[in-house]
Amino acid sequence: MKLKLEKFVDKLPIMDTLQPKRFTKNGTPYYEVRMEEFNSKLHRDLPPTRLWGYNGQVPGPTIEVNKGEPIKVKWMNNLPTNHFLPVDWSILNPELPEVRTVTHLHGGETPTPSDGYPEAWFTKGFKQVGPAFEKEVYEYPNNQRATMLWYHDHAMGITRLNNYAGLSGTYIIRDKHEKTLNLPAEAYEIPLVIQDRSFNRDGSLSYPKQPEDSSEDLPNPSIVPAFTGDTILTNGKVWPYLEVEPRKYRFRILNASNTRGYELHLDSGQKIYQIGSDGGLLEKTVRMETVSLEPSERADVVLDFSKYEGDTIVLKNKLGSNASPDDETDDVLQFRVNKPLTKQDTSRLPVRLSTIPSLKQSSIAAIRNLNLVGSTDGYSRPLLLLNNKRWDEPVTEKPQLGSTEIWAFKNLTNFTHPMHIHLIQFQLLDRQPFDLDRYNKDGQIIYTGPPKPPAANERGWKDTVAAPSAQITRVIARFGPYTGDYVWHCHILEHEDYDMMRPFRVINPKQ
Ligand code: C2O
Ligand code: CU
Ligand code: CU
Repeated sequence: MKLKLEKFVDKLPIMDTLQPKRFTKNGTPYYEVRMEEFNSKLHRDLPPTRLWGYNGQVPGPTIEVNKGEPIKVKWMNNLPTNHFLPVDWSILNPELPEVRTVTHLHGGETPTPSDGYPEAWFTKGFKQVGPAFEKEVYEYPNNQRATMLWYHDHAMGITRLNNYAGLSGTYIIRDKHEKTLNLPAEAYEIPLVIQDRSFNRDGSLSYPKQPEDSSEDLPNPSIVPAFTGDTILTNGKVWPYLEVEPRKYRFRILNASNTRGYELHLDSGQKIYQIGSDGGLLEKTVRMETVSLEPSERADVVLDFSKYEGDTIVLKNKLGSNASPDDETDDVLQFRVNKPLTKQDTSRLPVRLSTIPSLKQSSIAAIRNLNLVGSTDGYSRPLLLLNNKRWDEPVTEKPQLGSTEIWAFKNLTNFTHPMHIHLIQFQLLDRQPFDLDRYNKDGQIIYTGPPKPPAANERGWKDTVAAPSAQITRVIARFGPYTGDYVWHCHILEHEDYDMMRPFRVINPKQ
């Protein structure tokens, strides 16, 4: 029997800001973060849930830095040696340790030894390490635009399970320019990490052992092609509420779900003012009815509650379901505009936010046609691939350091894949629809419409982009400032784990 959890009974938690353990001789903050198992109540009526989190928190503590000020982080694995979620050994080398972790700073411009390469994993106390492991203490230069990034686990073949267990958190880079804008700040700036989960009656996390209609000869456990939970959590609580003052707030929203996408809107009919995307502020504030977020996408938004004193407002998800009282994933979070205004709201919501130089004018060193394809494995399970290649085949994408390239994601499957590239922030050029049935018949690309330019809220820096079915989604990026091995992949974690991820290498032709 399904669990019925009452909505909006728990207060929205706000993650702690991580404090440095010490400073190095030259003043660099040094942090230590332990990955550990603990139990925590995720809803008033749920028994405590077993979780894996950073420093005993899910989501992990927020890391806050200023642009240009590097930090060091020692990510430490203090987890048990066995996983509490179903590991599918049929997609893994059986010699691997069952519990492995490696932390990636998503959206970060990070040198490769600190990027969290999927094969740079390590076990408890660094007793065993993966073939790409380089060092214990990661360094983040923070030489990029102010924005909200996020850190999360990226261990090969079990990323979906480690993230589902709780291994993710937010990372905010600030800069001088943003401070001059006088946006809502401090108590009025709140990260919202949205995730879906399912629970068993004893409070434990539920994650399928096998696909629902699976035949008997599938491996057990067997990876599932997609996962959506039946409850929605924000900042680690199921359907929480937030008490707000009648004024402007800035919310840094992240979709940290495994597969689920959201189309967020407010039941008050209020507009959502989007000011930023994955890679920081947009050029101009965009007034939105709904904001779509595929897994890993972020939206920086301002909500103005000044005309809603005394109201309760629900943040809804248009893509959620309201099919039955047991399935109400169309609700996300409740705002209660019941706090008195502590002081006059002097924050601003500027029309002009920043300048974004277009990459379109640069000379293009390469255009890569990258196919997102579906196939099947030896058990007739879906196997999604990039360019028909498995993860462990030799590197094929080798952009030159400092060069600008166009990557064209041609989606030949029947659903959207959020495509993500490490190291860089890109710009979306356009999306052009084609006849997929025709392509499946004779391999011809017949366009069914002109290229569609990005929507106003996608005209900023992005690191993850929705690549819809039967469309070619083109992004442009300058590859740098570091050389070395990185990855690009679909950010649906069930796809990324099997096998919709590929390496790429930034090379320096002069070396
Ligand atoms: Cu959010 Cu390769 O990661
Ligand atoms: Cu990433
Ligand atoms: Cu995908």
